[in-house]
Amino acid sequence: MPEELVSVLSRKVVGQPHALRLIAPYIQMYQAGLAPPGRPIGVFLLLGPTGTGKTRTVEVLAEVLHGSHNHYLKVDCGEYQMEHEIAKLIGAPPGYLGHRETTPALSAKRLEEATTSNCDISLVLFDEIEKAAPSLTRLLLGVLDKALLKLGDNTSVGFEHSVIFLTSNLGAADMMKEMRPTFGFDAGSEPDPEQLAGKLEAIALGAVRRRFSPEFINRIDAVVTYQPLAQESLAKILDQQIDDLRNHVATRLGDHRFSIEVDDSAREFLLNRGTSLEYGARELKRTIHRSLMQPLATLVVERRVPAGSTVVVTAESSGEKLALTATGRAPEPVPAPVVHPEILIVDDNTDLLRFLKTILEAKGWRIVTAESAASARAAVLERAPDVALVDYGLPDNNGLELSSRLRSMVRSTQVIIMTGGQLTNDEQELCRRYGYLLLQKPFMIEDLTDLIRNRVKVATGAAGV
Ligand SMILES: Nc1ncnc2c1ncn2[C@@H]1O[C@H](COP(=O)(O)OP(=O)(O)OP(=O)(O)O)[C@@H](O)[C@H]1O
Ligand SMILES: [Mg+2]
Repeated sequence: MPEELVSVLSRKVVGQPHALRLIAPYIQMYQAGLAPPGRPIGVFLLLGPTGTGKTRTVEVLAEVLHGSHNHYLKVDCGEYQMEHEIAKLIGAPPGYLGHRETTPALSAKRLEEATTSNCDISLVLFDEIEKAAPSLTRLLLGVLDKALLKLGDNTSVGFEHSVIFLTSNLGAADMMKEMRPTFGFDAGSEPDPEQLAGKLEAIALGAVRRRFSPEFINRIDAVVTYQPLAQESLAKILDQQIDDLRNHVATRLGDHRFSIEVDDSAREFLLNRGTSLEYGARELKRTIHRSLMQPLATLVVERRVPAGSTVVVTAESSGEKLALTATGRAPEPVPAPVVHPEILIVDDNTDLLRFLKTILEAKGWRIVTAESAASARAAVLERAPDVALVDYGLPDNNGLELSSRLRSMVRSTQVIIMTGGQLTNDEQELCRRYGYLLLQKPFMIEDLTDLIRNRVKVATGAAGV
């Protein structure tokens, strides 16, 4: 298991070997029964630019230890910026109004839920700790030091089986200034990456020392500064993303599965467009989503990808976009339907909108489309559609926020969120709470129509849609 841990981690968190070298031994010590008692298994402060793998590290550990990338407990410190908000985290003291109704976000039960029968380690992530109210920092001190947290009702939660990750953007702006001259334009004077790594580390540590007390910093086992991702790391991450897409298409599309071949020109196109100092691998993921997954989704819903065929992706000679060509013959069109729900589709991908509209209208369904959150709101007020099919990434809003707005305007509208990426734990929880269905892009038109049939039946009681 320990070897597996290191090798899986370094395969999935690219270009941050020092981070893994620092973290893995603590888990191995614990698994070998050698961890000192009375404190958490390990406490790590993860620093560095956005999109370089900090959260990813925790997700991959969760995958290795518990079999699922979101099997960990996350505390968004941004939600506890004010002193009075701490009650949400640890529960209100007895005697306070409503103390019985508050279920603390950090409790023995929540920690237990972050373990599995195979592994009793709970991974706990305090995200953006620089935003936490001072009393949260004080509480954390007890957790880091004695592995104990006292709740509002005076009971205690033990963190002896927990690995604690703190992430922070402290120093990020100054790191950016340090990195900027090395980026792109001035390739001639590129400094040695090791020298840059040292400088970034010093900037990060300086910022941490200014913000947190020495006793807090002393209780951290390792401060890990994530490095900006080099071109070769981005190339590896691109390959991983393409593999993930291939796997998704091979396993989730059932009989409709097909293969995908991305040639070198397309890879180069994605890498060129997806390299960004500001956003790290996030920009690469956005580029893949926009330039590869969205056009692929369009092809799939348009039924231009016959089952068993191969979609070949190359860069167009203009260099402006990717060309996707499917081999093989397209199947027969979808048969006509009986009942007629009204569906609002919100997506800024005009091709996808057009094709979904054509196909769903051929089934006799009434379709309204919107390319932005603003026009979606107007459409909901005017038409009160049965179903809103909303893309997660919209130019003027996020699809989840928009959906909540739409639902507050027209209660009966059922929501389906289309996404090409992974939602965060909080976002998944929100979808569960409000009953939003998720549709992973790319999808087959049948996946969509099944979901709509389900929803409309639930919503209106209409049979045989
Ligand atoms: N080193 C990496 N190896 C593999 N994938 C990565 C790496 N860094 C980032 N990614 C990809 O980019 C996405 C965003 O990265 P991640 O969430 O780890 O950013 P972060 O460092 O936590 O940034 P932030 O400071 O904004 O929270 C990940 O889900 C992953 O797909
Ligand atoms: Mg993060």
